[in-house]
Amino acid sequence: MWVIEIDHFGPPSTMVKRLVDTPKPAAHQVLVEVRASGVNPKDTYIRKGRLALLSGKKFPMRLGYDLAGIVQECGHEQSQFKEGDRVFGSISAWTGGAYAEFAAVDVSELAILPDSLTFEQGASLPIAALTSYQALTKLVRIKSGEQILINGASGGVGIFAIQLAKYFGADVTTLSSAANLDFCRELGANTALDYRTTSTKSLSKRFEVVFDVFGNHSFADVKDILSARGIYITTVPRFEIFKDTVLTPIGKRARLIIVKSNSSDLDTIAGLTATGVIQTIVDKFFSFDEVTDAHKYSETHRARGKIVLVR
Ligand SMILES: NC(=O)c1ccc[n+]([C@@H]2O[C@H](COP(=O)([O-])OP(=O)(O)OC[C@H]3O[C@@H](n4cnc5c(N)ncnc54)[C@H](OP(=O)(O)O)[C@@H]3O)[C@@H](O)[C@H]2O)c1
Repeated sequence: MWVIEIDHFGPPSTMVKRLVDTPKPAAHQVLVEVRASGVNPKDTYIRKGRLALLSGKKFPMRLGYDLAGIVQECGHEQSQFKEGDRVFGSISAWTGGAYAEFAAVDVSELAILPDSLTFEQGASLPIAALTSYQALTKLVRIKSGEQILINGASGGVGIFAIQLAKYFGADVTTLSSAANLDFCRELGANTALDYRTTSTKSLSKRFEVVFDVFGNHSFADVKDILSARGIYITTVPRFEIFKDTVLTPIGKRARLIIVKSNSSDLDTIAGLTATGVIQTIVDKFFSFDEVTDAHKYSETHRARGKIVLVR
């Protein structure tokens, strides 16, 4: 089978497609024929070596986490899936391997892809939708009528944050560039603001949740616009957030979301998407042979929604 891998950290051109042996699924795994794979900023960070402490430095290193495809072979200790099932999910292991013809994936990280969703849609969902879902249901239980501010609202994670926050009944304020104000409103934002002309400090509302999806703010930046028991959630694991988390056990809190793929949350996301409660938006599709261009596009930080690699 073919895989996309790197022999050292580096720019997008570091990625090479080569032939390797097809893996055998372990007891609790299934072998998935990958039809589409989602591109996330994490993939580009791994490729560059920015997360080397977590990914390790063992080369060749495979890339890609999000995938959708068809179960080809089943591990002998799993009964969750059968051959031919359409599935989607995300590989949690830092070793990745979703940019490939086949991937052996733990069944706990997969769910059935509803018939009404394409493989491309399925591959666009896992990391981005789960991050927003887990932030808004596990770090905080956002409730009807609460105020949420979402920064970086038009990107892969942000599009789901807007829609899920609306679904939970929150009043949504977004921060994006001017080019994406209407896009955020169409997804459900009650108030769409341009981060170039609006400083968070100038906002008069008090927010129960500030979800810093883009991750270029800090707890100190937004503390004054949080309600008395408001929470600042960031996606970016900087030293500051670990310190702020420890220092804010109660009252105004700061927390880091760390997404974890699991079948139950994937089932929920699949259901919400299949019933039209939320929609996924793919900005650009690339073939696996165009993976270099896909990473270059991700690194512009201008994606409006998701980027997906397709067969
Ligand atoms: N901790 C976790 O478990 C976890 C999980 C998922 C993602 N993440 C992280 O979350 C971050 C966002 O992920 P993503 O998939 O949403 O990325 P993405 O799709 O690449 O984000 C692109 C979006 O970023 C916006 N943006 C660019 N510059 C901005 C700025 N200065 N201020 C606010 N928004 C800006 C752009 O909107 P405009 O063009 O309108 O500026 C664009 O729509 C990444 O760093 C990713 O690694 C972490």
